[in-house]
Amino acid sequence: MLNIRYELAKELKAKPDWDNLGFGKYFSDHMFIMDYDEGMGWHDARIVPYQNLSLDPACMVFHYAQEMFEGLKAYRTPNGEIQLFRPQKNIERMNKTNERLCIPQLDPDDVLDAIKAIVATEKDWVPVKDGTSLYIRPFIIATDVQLGVHPSKSYKFMIIVCPVGSYYAEGIKPVKIFVEREYVRAVKGGTGFAKVGGNYACSLIGQQKAEAMGYSQVLWLDGVEHKYIDEVGAMNVFFVIDGVVVTPALDEGNILPGVTRNSCIQILQKMGYKVEERRLALDEVIEAYKNGKLDEAFGTGTAAVVSPMGLLDTGDFKMVINNNEIGEIAQKVYDALTGIQWGKCEDELGWIVKVC
Ligand code: COI
Repeated sequence: MLNIRYELAKELKAKPDWDNLGFGKYFSDHMFIMDYDEGMGWHDARIVPYQNLSLDPACMVFHYAQEMFEGLKAYRTPNGEIQLFRPQKNIERMNKTNERLCIPQLDPDDVLDAIKAIVATEKDWVPVKDGTSLYIRPFIIATDVQLGVHPSKSYKFMIIVCPVGSYYAEGIKPVKIFVEREYVRAVKGGTGFAKVGGNYACSLIGQQKAEAMGYSQVLWLDGVEHKYIDEVGAMNVFFVIDGVVVTPALDEGNILPGVTRNSCIQILQKMGYKVEERRLALDEVIEAYKNGKLDEAFGTGTAAVVSPMGLLDTGDFKMVINNNEIGEIAQKVYDALTGIQWGKCEDELGWIVKVC
């Protein structure tokens, strides 16, 4: 059991308008912090009032982006309990990201204890209304004060939490996606599979361009041939082609191995759908669309949950998918997934971890 020191806030913040949470705008009263120093390992786990950090401007994170993050959620069930969805998968991914970024490994049990502790401390911040949850953002920054390019010898691991509604303003309504053909997000051997801020920083230029044209997000293609579909930045993607569910495979190492992606694959297979994880060329999607065989397209992610794609614009060709309505398969997988997450359906696959 992780030994956590508590220093509780003397004054609590006013709670936000639960009907207008949006995503990532309101932060709770406390945060979790744990330090790493060479020779000491991870130490001094504490829950303290949510506060600004005081860091030397030469800290490595500011210059060389030695940083990682995760995203998971806590849900309130109909009987008022609070639960997590597959947190062990996030923790496993966290250590894979750490390995790629030369950040020291964390003890998975300690991370789970820390997540449970901050969520239990902030239980009054876990929203009740349908479609809302408490988003949990663990992250690590490199804190060595030096400008040589080497892995840091000191780090801070922190967890902040915020009550959220849906990630997209559209909610579960279909989103408009623009296919980015100039910039790329990841290449084989890079950090595409890891949850690092750098992946998101380099995606901003495409995102900015897409938003200016009225799209919600960008669909990224592979970094070598600009031909195969990778992901949508905040979501993994699924296409239903002639009744078969197809999603890009993870083996090139340039796609984030989403926990929601993996859960949706398992749910769909259990429902009897054929799911193929393989390379998927944009041309194959266009061809299927032209032949009337592109039944549905949707994205999955912790923040985005299951989000149908209503319009896919390749720059010179626009595909309006399923009449810009949520498809049958997307709806079914959304209902099954969120039913488990919010404790409305039986947790047959053992994915739930209770907090309090
Ligand atoms: C998540 O789904 O948790 C993510 O990290 C996506 C995000 C960048 C909002």
